[in-house]
Amino acid sequence: MSTLIKNGRIITAEQDYFADIYIEKDKITTIGANLKIDADNLYDAKSKYVIPGGVDVHTHLDMPFGGTTSCDDFETGTRAAAFGGTTCLIDFAIQAKGTKMRDALDTWWKKAENKATTDFGLHMIITDLPDAHLEDMNDMVREGVTSFKLFMAYPGVLMVDDATIFKAMKQTAQNGALVCMHAENGSVIDTIVQRTLAEGKTAPIYHALTRPTTAEGEAVNRAIALSEMAGAPVYIVHLSSNDALEKVAEARDKGLPAYAETCPQYLFLSLDDMNKPGFEDAKLVFTPPLREKWHQDKLWEGLRKNTLQVVSTDHCPFCYKEQKELGKNDFTKIPNGGPGIEHRLQLLYSGGVGEGRISLNRWVELCSATPAKMFGLYPRKGTIAIGSDADIVIWDPEKEHTISAHTHHMCTDYSMFEGRKLKGNAETVFSRGEAIVKDNKFFGKPGRGQFIKRDTYAGAWK
Ligand code: URP
Ligand code: ZN
Ligand code: ZN
Repeated sequence: MSTLIKNGRIITAEQDYFADIYIEKDKITTIGANLKIDADNLYDAKSKYVIPGGVDVHTHLDMPFGGTTSCDDFETGTRAAAFGGTTCLIDFAIQAKGTKMRDALDTWWKKAENKATTDFGLHMIITDLPDAHLEDMNDMVREGVTSFKLFMAYPGVLMVDDATIFKAMKQTAQNGALVCMHAENGSVIDTIVQRTLAEGKTAPIYHALTRPTTAEGEAVNRAIALSEMAGAPVYIVHLSSNDALEKVAEARDKGLPAYAETCPQYLFLSLDDMNKPGFEDAKLVFTPPLREKWHQDKLWEGLRKNTLQVVSTDHCPFCYKEQKELGKNDFTKIPNGGPGIEHRLQLLYSGGVGEGRISLNRWVELCSATPAKMFGLYPRKGTIAIGSDADIVIWDPEKEHTISAHTHHMCTDYSMFEGRKLKGNAETVFSRGEAIVKDNKFFGKPGRGQFIKRDTYAGAWK
């Protein structure tokens, strides 16, 4: 099958030009002005942007968490992502304590293999790491699972100690993989939480009020210090506050390989969006929590100055009814996480490019090119180039739309961004040459998405 996309304005992280793109089977084979090639399918992208499909490196599909399971699985999650222009994601397999990482990998492959509608990779969450299991990490790298997430928060569930983090980083210093860090001081937060509950404060807002920005800044600082001692790079996930941002900036000024992502919820929402009557605030319970509004400007500045290199979603969807409601009488029982996989490109385009905060190239760089580079997918994903996978989005910069749970494609019965008016949206979305979103309809068959064996951080940046 062949496809010709004509008359588009092609935007990558580095370039902005008019050309036609010819796709044979699943790859881009020709790019040029006014191509005269017969193709099975023809698309006119006049007055549209043509961008590489979005790469979301932080999602939690079908994940057991907080006494329930995130409600989007690999089918509904990848479909919702595609409607918003994201054509590749990296999800997290979770090693259960005392088990081999391979078991977790098999479990997540099973969750994904007959369901994913677009390509995907996996990170491995490490929950314990006896010396005898260090070799597991090398085994994962050989399987293309080239990044590991560790938690400095959620004591008793996912949190690991500094020695474990250091050991994991030492291992990645050798095998070239990348440690992703959930950086919040979990022990201190737990103490604050217990005291708050003892005072009878059980409403959802206390989830945010018991997790100070200092606890994030301290943990980011510690994570970077541990990575410096181990001689390994570190990638801070879902960075939410200026305290944390300053620590990353300081490290990068010293020349350390410290990287960080933020997420749309921290750029567009704040504590001002909470304090709603009843239990409504539970819709915005995720970790780290929302911050005071002034942090948003600092995060945008961080995106402009490259202190932050990536925007991911941390999509971890739970319905309000029956799932978030598990914490009706106790905020610690609200499953942590919010739905966002569909709206990342739209929000960053409308509120970022549209509001003059970032350039068109930077938008593509943050949402597609750098995440692909950082996690060993580039140039297969994250760019428009000869030989790259034809994961391509025809983007209509004028298309207006209002976010709503009534029309979104995610599983949740609410939206974090309900009622937000946006300009710019994906019109046609190709995954390896196949138009999977067209005319607002979905054509991607479950199971067509492939597991991508990723290169290592060291291999990708050498
Ligand atoms: O609240 C969140 N972020 N839930 C997902 C798990 C995590 O910490 O990323
Ligand atoms: Zn996390
Ligand atoms: Zn997460």
